[in-house]
Amino acid sequence: MSRRKLAAGNWKMNGLRAHLDEARALAAAHPAPSVGVLLCPPATLLAPMAEALKGSAVALGGQDCHAAPKGAHTGDIAAAMLADAGASHVIVGHSERRADHGETDADVAAKVRAAWQVGLVAVVCLGETEAQRDAGETLGVIGAQLAGSLPDGATASNTVIAYEPVWAIGTGRTPDRDQIAEVHDFLRRAVPDAATMLLYGGSVNPANASDIFAIANVDGALVGGASLKADDFGQIIQALERA
Ligand code: 13P
Repeated sequence: MSRRKLAAGNWKMNGLRAHLDEARALAAAHPAPSVGVLLCPPATLLAPMAEALKGSAVALGGQDCHAAPKGAHTGDIAAAMLADAGASHVIVGHSERRADHGETDADVAAKVRAAWQVGLVAVVCLGETEAQRDAGETLGVIGAQLAGSLPDGATASNTVIAYEPVWAIGTGRTPDRDQIAEVHDFLRRAVPDAATMLLYGGSVNPANASDIFAIANVDGALVGGASLKADDFGQIIQALERA
């Protein structure tokens, strides 16, 4: 059985309502993609993007959720609110949240449970720092993050894993083929459900996407900067369709 594939865009803290045009253009250019396509805009754009993409093949996701179902958590967003705004997925444990907000593996696991509770697919991010790679700790770090961030009950239906080396995010640097293959092979054996989609993330662009998608056990990408432009992200979607 071949695994499904997914091209996921993470807009991070970018995008005003005017940028909904990029999402519309993407959907119009890819009316029936042979791979999954997911856009994760900032929370303020979820509801209007859901409206703009109604009837399209592009799915929507949040970029984070709180672990609690509701309550006194000023500024936070519950998983149910993302689902209510039109999301089917939510990114959890992105390295920027781990770094900026001190999120631990246990925090991430709690958020994954909250996502599952309301039927969202959790896109769980893992990745080593450059210092950890240089120290030969990559697989140890990834293994510990996976074990700590993934609650019991993870399946290919409720979870996607994204391997995002911290040093490759937004830097224009990517690991070489063997480095990506090593981590993805490791993850393939480590995930509880072998059919779980494994995405690579970190400086994916139209020029390098095909090479990355040709690596065994890479089922797609989590794309930051290059997902902001419909044309760039569209080329990455096409590369995944051809892979
Ligand atoms: P870039 O594609 O901008 O490097 O970002 C990757 C990322 O962090 C996606 O979540």
